[in-house]
Amino acid sequence: MRRNDILKANKKWWNDVTPIHAKSKLYNLASFKKGKTSLEKTEITELGNNVRGKTLLHPMCHFGMDTLSWARKGAITTGVDLSDKAIEFAKELSKETHIPSTFICSDFNKLPKALNKKFDIIFMSYGVLCWITDINKWAKIISHFLKKGGTFYIIELHPFTNILSYDFKISYNYFDKGPDIDDSEGTYADWNAPIKSPTYVWSYTISNVINALTQQGLKIEYVHEFPFTMYDQFPGFMKINEKNQYVLKNKKIQIPLLFSIKATKQNFNTAKY
Ligand SMILES: C[S@@+](CC[C@H](N)C(=O)[O-])C[C@H]1O[C@@H](n2cnc3c(N)ncnc32)[C@H](O)[C@@H]1O
Repeated sequence: MRRNDILKANKKWWNDVTPIHAKSKLYNLASFKKGKTSLEKTEITELGNNVRGKTLLHPMCHFGMDTLSWARKGAITTGVDLSDKAIEFAKELSKETHIPSTFICSDFNKLPKALNKKFDIIFMSYGVLCWITDINKWAKIISHFLKKGGTFYIIELHPFTNILSYDFKISYNYFDKGPDIDDSEGTYADWNAPIKSPTYVWSYTISNVINALTQQGLKIEYVHEFPFTMYDQFPGFMKINEKNQYVLKNKKIQIPLLFSIKATKQNFNTAKY
């Protein structure tokens, strides 16, 4: 399948799920509108509360709740997403909540042509790397948009979980890069949602991600792995703990479900995008 057709299919799926997600329990838009942050404790603790006055780029921002949550903390935010429906929704949400933010509809790979600005912080979260067509190009673009000394932070589904099917069986190749077709039904926010259109996804190992960043002159400050996640990734095998995190029910089988990376763009010249 041609890259353009893949992009079209992925865009269609994200346009279709945006209104479903906006009404879902998982996203809890009503609480957000009342002032509750949509950010999880992990990223608030790790990236820090000290974002006031800093410029923050949020690629793959979906319909903007996390972008606007950083803006509520004082960051000067720019959210970017492939889905025009999600970006329309994000702009409306920004207006309705009186939280200023820029939102741009663009394919991640084309962003250097659509946006001419450098940022103090780049934030990406939960379910983004599988849409990245080329991890090395991704890291180049991240480095391109970061100011020298700027911070890159990602919290993401752990690629180890890519080997498991929804019914928690070892089924897939950790080293398979894709693109793979996903024609499962429903969405991670609502497994019963009447939605079934194929998407095309890529997978990257932890070392792929780390090496891509370091090769672009980013200094990794840490990589963390977590035995919890924020959605029902393996229905029937997970429970919600006292911190409102999804964890595996079986205490003996604990695997990494999320990872985070914090990195700094070095203060010297590296390869230009
Ligand atoms: C799982 S969501 C991101 C999660 C986000 N933290 C949230 O929960 O709201 C993935 C987002 O990536 C966007 N996306 C997918 N492919 C993209 C691409 N090629 N360029 C830019 N955005 C893309 C989708 O439209 C979707 O909004």
